[in-house]
Amino acid sequence: MAGQDWRIGVAGLGTVGAGLLTFLADRPGFAPAGGRAVVTGVSARSRSRPRPFDISGLPWFDDPVALATSPQIDVFVELIGGSDGPAKAAVEAALSAGKPVVTANKALIAEHGAELAALAESKGAPLLFEAAVMGGVPAVKMVREALVGDDIKSIAGILNGTCNYILTEMEATGRSFADVLGEAQRLGYAEADPTMDVGGFDAAHKISILAALAFGCAPNYAAAEIEGIEQVELLDIQLARDLGYRIKLVASADRSPDGVLVRVHPSLAPLAHPLAQAGGALNALFIEGARVGRIFLQGPGAGAGPTAAAVAADIADVMTGAVRPVFQAPAASLSPFTPVDPSKSVGRAFLRFLVKDEPGVIAAVSETLAEAGVSIESFLQKPVDNADGVPIVLTTHAVAESVLKAAIERIAGLPAVLDRPRLLRIARI
Ligand code: HSE
Repeated sequence: MAGQDWRIGVAGLGTVGAGLLTFLADRPGFAPAGGRAVVTGVSARSRSRPRPFDISGLPWFDDPVALATSPQIDVFVELIGGSDGPAKAAVEAALSAGKPVVTANKALIAEHGAELAALAESKGAPLLFEAAVMGGVPAVKMVREALVGDDIKSIAGILNGTCNYILTEMEATGRSFADVLGEAQRLGYAEADPTMDVGGFDAAHKISILAALAFGCAPNYAAAEIEGIEQVELLDIQLARDLGYRIKLVASADRSPDGVLVRVHPSLAPLAHPLAQAGGALNALFIEGARVGRIFLQGPGAGAGPTAAAVAADIADVMTGAVRPVFQAPAASLSPFTPVDPSKSVGRAFLRFLVKDEPGVIAAVSETLAEAGVSIESFLQKPVDNADGVPIVLTTHAVAESVLKAAIERIAGLPAVLDRPRLLRIARI
């Protein structure tokens, strides 16, 4: 189609949709294959909602499925969001009609990626989703294309800007999770319903997609072990810092001969480590390949401009005719990876206990750990003005999670231990 315009249908006119229309208006010469990208149809929940650009001259579709199958468009861009509902219906309709689809929808790809890939490939229609992971940072292309000649062993990083912003602000201002979240919602940085972000689900969608691309499997979101940041207390952040660490929400995927372990949980990174240094709403990612070694990506994981740039890059791929499997291999040959039992994973940990400040307590805690075979790496008791007890915090050497959890249960039962012990992992980075 070189030389001819590409007619683009955009469903969803929120932050990213607005960013895309603004980009295409600002760059009328965006023509990576000769022809221009021209918006010839839009759809959104509300036609009249105030927007930063004028849509009155664009053909309007109440129904995104009608837009997806319209003869007036060559490429369908899905920016509605959500794993099911109208987003899925419209993407399926576009692919069934043989139309290329570009989407920023991580939930859709993480939860239905394999079946959508099969549909796309059966119709010879590209299905592209660079914007679904790390916004403006080209993580998807990096893993799917640039590193296809390597064997990726592990991926770990910060994939949710909202959580990173909240944790950064808690440390910087000494405020609680609830306080910072409330402010972020008032300022419009966090969603009114923040569950997907703070519960770790958004990061889990993204790491499930990267794991599928990296390890040549179908996405297996159901196998991800997910813990959010709701339970991270300011005290944990401060004590971790005293021990030389910063708490981040780390999403990771590791391949071993037993299978793949995909996890999202608050983790400690050494203060000088690039992951600890990635503050505010930044995203950051380490990829470790058998041949290439370690690669580090960092940048804006959200926002209108960066995410729209990623969508535009996918539109450019469609326009230039790039053809490759949706994931790492043809959909027919993909199967979900075998999940590794997280209790078998081995790593270092940070433990915090609230205890009575009386003789023998530290001895009892360390004895229990020693009996279980858990080796203490560092130990800190910090006097605080708290009549209810004193926190003690320690880090361990590498230990199997099942062993650690059994030891924690025994410690929780000691008479001098006043509260549920707190377990955080030290990131394997
Ligand atoms: N809500 C996401 C974040 C951005 O906070 O990183 C879109 O995935």
